[in-house]
This record gives sequence, structure tokens and C-alpha cells, in this order.
Amino acid sequence: MAESITITDNRTGQSLEIPFENGGISATAWSKLLPGVWFFDPGFMSTAACESAITYLDGDAGILRYRGYPIEQLAEHSTYLEVAYLLLNGELPTAEQFEAWRHDVTHHTFIHENVRKRFLEGFHYDAHPMGMLVSAVAALSTFYLDAKEIFDPESRDKQIVRLIAKMPTLAAAAHRFSVGMPFVYPDNSLDFTANFLSMMWKTAEPRFDANPALARALEVLFILHADHEQNCSTTAMRTVGSSHADPYSATAAAAAALYGPRHGGANEAVIRMLTEIGSIDNVAPFVESVKSGSGHRLQGFGHRVYKNYDPRARIIKRAADEVFAITGKNPLLDVALKLEEIALSDEYFISRKLYPNVDFYSGLIYQAMGFPLEMFPVLFAIPRTAGWLAHWKEMLDQDSKISRPRQLYIGEDARDYVEMADR
Ligand code: CMC
Repeated sequence: MAESITITDNRTGQSLEIPFENGGISATAWSKLLPGVWFFDPGFMSTAACESAITYLDGDAGILRYRGYPIEQLAEHSTYLEVAYLLLNGELPTAEQFEAWRHDVTHHTFIHENVRKRFLEGFHYDAHPMGMLVSAVAALSTFYLDAKEIFDPESRDKQIVRLIAKMPTLAAAAHRFSVGMPFVYPDNSLDFTANFLSMMWKTAEPRFDANPALARALEVLFILHADHEQNCSTTAMRTVGSSHADPYSATAAAAAALYGPRHGGANEAVIRMLTEIGSIDNVAPFVESVKSGSGHRLQGFGHRVYKNYDPRARIIKRAADEVFAITGKNPLLDVALKLEEIALSDEYFISRKLYPNVDFYSGLIYQAMGFPLEMFPVLFAIPRTAGWLAHWKEMLDQDSKISRPRQLYIGEDARDYVEMADR
């Protein structure tokens, strides 16, 4: 059987045979037969915008792998920093490589005093920490002028280390500011997650030692959120990066894309939804209101790619039990479980293949650990930075074209300007 497809332009009778490559069809080949005829694909429902060797996702089978390694194995055995190395470099590090990487990240966690004192402290007292993070990441580009040297491998690696290392510091600084607490400097004797928790929660004690089980739970959440192939924020990263902007500017764009409730803001929206539902008795009427087209969606449900249980949601559900054993059960858990039970047996959700996604249970854990709702998308942005940068690096190495889609123009035909008095 030929591994190709033949298309015929019925206006001219001309045909063209195009081979399948990696499960896709080259649009450049189509264009040879149909110059000036564009694919109409809003939201990229059927478009592969790049080739990538980073993350494999089979939405029907519920499979997620980073560089070939199943997410379940990474969540069980690995650490966030090791996963970040894997995503960025393609292979798991040796002990020596890991030690050098851990050392580099640990020693780039400090931020310039001006970023904190003059920039972050200039925000209004009730600024959303995600807005602060997006702006602060963009501002970093003005502190590292060498970041523009995106084709200098040494400079590129330096910015990657800086970004991964400084995200938790910026995130915690945004939180401390929003609650009126003094900034906590990074503690280089702590590992990545424990250091972040120290910057979040430390008060008067000389050293903050996070509960190891909670630090591990956060680590697992960071691993699960580290990459997810061409999601909205990664697409923003690749798109902005394709103009050869510096990585801080591109990461700020990616973080801005993550902010929205359809993407990284969904974990915050889930808790608001569960709080609004309030009790198990209200779950069934809420589900009915979603189905009746009230405009409400079931937050934390559905996914563009997963048409099966999101494998990350399964792992998070288990992690939730471990966290609740320490923090006490989040009272919203029962509402969430009931909501899942009702939705998964309802024809509306079954026929549309709507399952809980990564955000459905992650917010319950974050809340039980004491993070305010506004920090939830920030907690997503910290680990996703590794994925964004891996894609940015891959895109630059592919010598890709600038992202510049076409449009189908549906506006007015040419017409003459009318003076204001005559309108
Ligand atoms: N609740 C109720 N109905 C839904 C939902 C939902 N959460 N999601 C999709 N649908 C329905 C939708 O109304 C449509 O029905 P119909 O065919 O009758 O018009 C059908 O399912 C297909 O929906 P869609 O909007 O075309 O699907 P999409 O692939 O464009 O959207 C999504 C994907 C994630 C934006 C969407 O499922 C959604 O809004 N979910 C809630 C927000 C959320 O949980 N987002 C987090 C996603 S996972 C983490 C991340 O990416 O950051």
C-alpha cells in the first residue's frame, strides 16, 4: 500500500501525490498544486506547526512521555531538575552532568535587587502574582543584554540556567509582596523545591526545612507540569522565539498565554468552581446547568488532545491522598470526587470524551499546602519553563521560519474614504 495521498484540483484536473511523513502531510507540497489557497484551521485543530522530539502524547490512549520516558516512571523516580535536564538535552544526565547542572541552577537563583525593590515592589498591593511574574520575566531581558546572542551556545545555556533558577525566586517574591511579608533570599543549601518552599513560607527561623513529603509532592507536580508538547503557551514561546526575540521576552509571552483560564489558569478556576458548588448536594444541579448551556464549563475537564483520562490527573489524584494525610483532607475533595463520578457517567461528557485533566486535582493539593488561589497558575509556570526552553532551543536548532500564518480575508472590498461630515 502506498504511503501517500493523492489530491486533485477539480477545477483543472491536476493531481499531486504527497507522501506521509511522520504521520503528517507537508503543507508546502499541497501548495505546489494549490498556490495561494490556504488551509483554514482556526485554533490549529488539524495543523502540526513543527517537528519535535521532546514530548510524545497519545490523547486517545492517555499516554505521555518525555523524550521517550513514561511520565509515570519519571513521576515515581525522578526529580524536577533531572527532568528539566532531560527535556533540554534529550538524555538523562550522568551523576557528573547532574551535579554540574544542579550546581549551576542553584547558584543562579538570586535576582538583581532592582528587580525586587524597584520593579516588583512598584506593583499595586493587590496585584495578581501571575501578572507580576509575567512582567518580571520580561523585565529580566533588560538585565541580561547578552541574552540577545541566541545563536551563541554559551549565552543560550546561561539564559536557560538563569530562567529555570530564577522563576521560583520571582514567584515567591510576588507572593511575599502580595501578603506584605519580607522577601526571603534563596538558600543555596536546599534543593530546588525545598528552596522554593523556604522562599514562600520562611518567617523568623534561621533555616526553613519543608516537610519532605510535601516537598516531594510538589516535586511530582513540577515533573508532571514540565512539558506538554505544543500547548498554547509553548506555541506562544515558539512563535515569539521564531522572531529571534531573546528568551526572557519569549518566556514572558509563554507565561502570559499560560495565565488564561482555558490553560494554566484552570487550576485556579477549578477551586473557584468547587467552592461555588459548595456541597455534594449541589453537584448534580451544577452538572445540569453546565449541560444546559448556561455558559459554565466544568473547569478541569476536557482537553484538546486527551480524549481519555489525562495520565497526569491519575498520578495527581494519588499524590493528593499523600498530601492530605499530612495536611488534613481538603474539604472540597468530596465535591470534586462526586463531580467526577457524575460527569464520567453522564452521556454529555461521555459522548464528548471529556475527562478530568491535570488541573482538576492539582488545585486541591496546592490549596491544602497553603498556597493562595492566585499562586496556582504561577505554580504551573515554574516547571513549565523547562518545557518552554526545551522547545525554544529545539526551534532555534531547526533553523525554523518565522511563525506567520495566512488569513482568509472576509472584510470589505476596496472603498473610498468618506469625510467625517459626510458619514
Ligand atoms: N465542560 C463542559 N463542556 C465542555 C468542556 C467542559 N470543560 N470542555 C469541552 N466541552 C464541550 C464543548 O462545549 C463542546 O461541545 P459541543 O460539541 O456540543 O459544542 C465540546 O465539548 C468540544 O469542546 P471544544 O471547546 O471544541 O474543545 P477544545 O479542544 O477547543 O477545548 C479546552 C479544550 C481545554 C479549552 C476545553 O475542554 C475547556 O474549556 N476545558 C475547561 C478548562 C480547562 O480545564 N482547561 C485546562 C486544560 S488542561 C491544562 C492546560 O492546558 O493548561
